[in-house]
Amino acid sequence: KEVVLGIDIGGTNTKFGFVDRSGTLLSEHSISTNVHASVESFLDALHENIEKNISALGEVVELIGIGVGAPNGNYYDGTIENAPNLRWKGSVNFVKLLQSYYDIPAVLTNDANAAAIGEMRFGGAQEMKNFIVITLGTGLGSGIVVNGELIYGHDGMAGELGHTLVNVNGRYCACGKRGCLETYVSATGIKRTIYKLLADHNGTSELNGVSFNDLSAELITEAAKNGDKIALEAFEYTGRILGMKLSDAVAHTSPEAIFLFGGLTKAEDFIFEPTKRYMEENLLYVYRNKVKLLPSGLQDKNAAVLGAAALAWQELEKSKDNV
Ligand code: BGC
Ligand code: NA
Ligand code: ZN
Repeated sequence: KEVVLGIDIGGTNTKFGFVDRSGTLLSEHSISTNVHASVESFLDALHENIEKNISALGEVVELIGIGVGAPNGNYYDGTIENAPNLRWKGSVNFVKLLQSYYDIPAVLTNDANAAAIGEMRFGGAQEMKNFIVITLGTGLGSGIVVNGELIYGHDGMAGELGHTLVNVNGRYCACGKRGCLETYVSATGIKRTIYKLLADHNGTSELNGVSFNDLSAELITEAAKNGDKIALEAFEYTGRILGMKLSDAVAHTSPEAIFLFGGLTKAEDFIFEPTKRYMEENLLYVYRNKVKLLPSGLQDKNAAVLGAAALAWQELEKSKDNV
């Protein structure tokens, strides 16, 4: 059976899975990204894990292509361009490095673009031609589809909403700038907000004393459910910044829907309600009450792994047509 490998590189974990031609995910796996200081050691670990899990599939499969979603991934040349939340810096030609392990067609795109492809092929955007996917993980990613096509732009790097400005002289970002959206709105951003609120107020909160590492979207959500004022205020603040930014994004491409992805979205209305409210409040009247704000239609399936795999299948078809 012919399969492709879909890989989703994240700042914390890297997910991968084997996907057949019909889009069925045969198995999915995860390794940690940020324990590896160099791309070489990361690739060694990834390769070893892939091999182990191919044999564990229990059926004879032939790996015929690879699709990768990566932060700061460039579809045009297969490079990862100095990703803020990865430990390996500089411009890394990831596709070329991968092909020294697997001499088969490989393609790479931005991780949020991969999620958008997954949503378009298998999820809630199957009937949509204009939508935006926002991934809320270690950073904030965006995949923007206009008139049925993902936008790549002049240099292949279009759609980096995470590094657009929210606040002049605001929080320091891993990209080297200040005040970027992802420093406020992401799994890491909301933790920074909690810390700031805890320092500013001396009210009681169940999040008091939790170390930055132990703090998580799940813990913050739990606290909010218990009525914790700091947690509730953090969601309101996060939703305000995201909502206002999304109202700007709507003015650029007039999407039918915006999909929110990632652990933070498990907070459901704690994040969706303020985001929607502030977005609507700030939209130009021509867009009001038209833009849907939705969770991923793929539930617990990994849209970026599926999307990266779909992209690999697409490229394989393309090269067949060209022969
Ligand atoms: C990167 C994006 C990526 C996002 C989510 C940001 O820091 O610049 O390219 O999509 O994180 O991983
Ligand atoms: Na993008
Ligand atoms: Zn930034």
